[in-house]
Amino acid sequence: MSHVMNTYARQPVAFVKGQGVWLWDEAGKKYLDALAGIAVNTLGHNHPRLVHALTEQIGRIIHSSNLFRIPLQEAAADRIAEITGLGEVFFCNSGLEANEAAIKIARKYGHDRGVAEPAIIVMEKAFHGRSLATLSATGSRKVQAGFEPLVQGFVRVPLNDLDAVRQVAAHNKNVVAVFIEPIQGEGGINVSRLDYLRGLHAICQQHEWLFMSDEVQCGLGRTGKWFVYQHAGFLPDVVPIAKGLGSGVPVGACVVGGRARGVFKPGNHGSTFGGNPLAMTAVVTTIDTMREEGLLANALQVGDAIRGGLAAALRGVAGVAEVRGMGMMLGIELDRPCGELVKLALEAGLVINVTAETVVRLLPALVMSEAEGREVVERLAPLARDFLAQPAAQPRVAAAH
Ligand SMILES: Cc1ncc(COP(=O)(O)O)c(C=O)c1O
Repeated sequence: MSHVMNTYARQPVAFVKGQGVWLWDEAGKKYLDALAGIAVNTLGHNHPRLVHALTEQIGRIIHSSNLFRIPLQEAAADRIAEITGLGEVFFCNSGLEANEAAIKIARKYGHDRGVAEPAIIVMEKAFHGRSLATLSATGSRKVQAGFEPLVQGFVRVPLNDLDAVRQVAAHNKNVVAVFIEPIQGEGGINVSRLDYLRGLHAICQQHEWLFMSDEVQCGLGRTGKWFVYQHAGFLPDVVPIAKGLGSGVPVGACVVGGRARGVFKPGNHGSTFGGNPLAMTAVVTTIDTMREEGLLANALQVGDAIRGGLAAALRGVAGVAEVRGMGMMLGIELDRPCGELVKLALEAGLVINVTAETVVRLLPALVMSEAEGREVVERLAPLARDFLAQPAAQPRVAAAH
């Protein structure tokens, strides 16, 4: 029996080798990876440039301390400032830590303005992490249940509903920030309308609230631009990022600009590991390689091809509610729970995920080629069709409620 704590319902497969968008298990079976470690392996597996840079860095120095200058951290922050359009970067090790920093910044911003009990507007179905503050901000009872009392100071509204935000603005003078995942990942690939994002930003401007865009899953080039807010054409105040930032080396960052600049002062926040030379090498190499290999354009082109291919292959198939997403962040919503598809896909040599019970989620590495994208469609579409053709062994979602 394993001593690993049982917090994940794991598939009985262990990947021991990867190359590009391909994985091999212990028995030598080959899989097409359409998940990239849940949006982590930006450059795919075993990218020669990343392997070389990390190996060299390990031979030089892995960790020093934030008590000293870290030139590689400065280089990584410069690049992140360029791609975000924002000015200050705090480095940490994960998405929840980046979000925890964002929440602290919002509260400090409120206190600095004389709001004793600052509140943050958050969205239904959002996922921000599993620390106490981030699970409290998360819009899922499943994530929260058993961990009460929750952290206070969050006001929840539905996504894509500006009136709901206006109503909160009219009645709650403690609000200091809006915290939004512009494309909800765990919640089922729920895409914010761009006019909604712009409207939300305008409300934030009007009330001098912080606009905080959790781009942990949807950011870093996955949608064809570095960040989703860039599709909408404005600059947020706070942008937490992680996942794809280090192509597999654990690293997160809370990036701030606008009204949030200068809110954290020395002593307000910290992290022992955050921004160490090993992680910073991964960040610098990931961003430089993305630029040199044109991976944003590739994400858009191949992502669109996969979405179009799936939409065509599944058109008219009973049980398919919608194929949606942007670039390399795609979801196929079915009318019934479909967790079983993950196992069926593995048997067929394809790595996918199912989230929010009924949504097949694809988050491929940004290096996936168009031919490999076609292969994803060719492997996945027949599985989905066969699964949906089964007699109603799976209860329909509508009927289950
Ligand atoms: C949008 C978003 N925010 C935050 C997190 C939490 O990141 P981590 O698991 O690195 O703590 C996730 C993880 O799935 C996420 O998708």
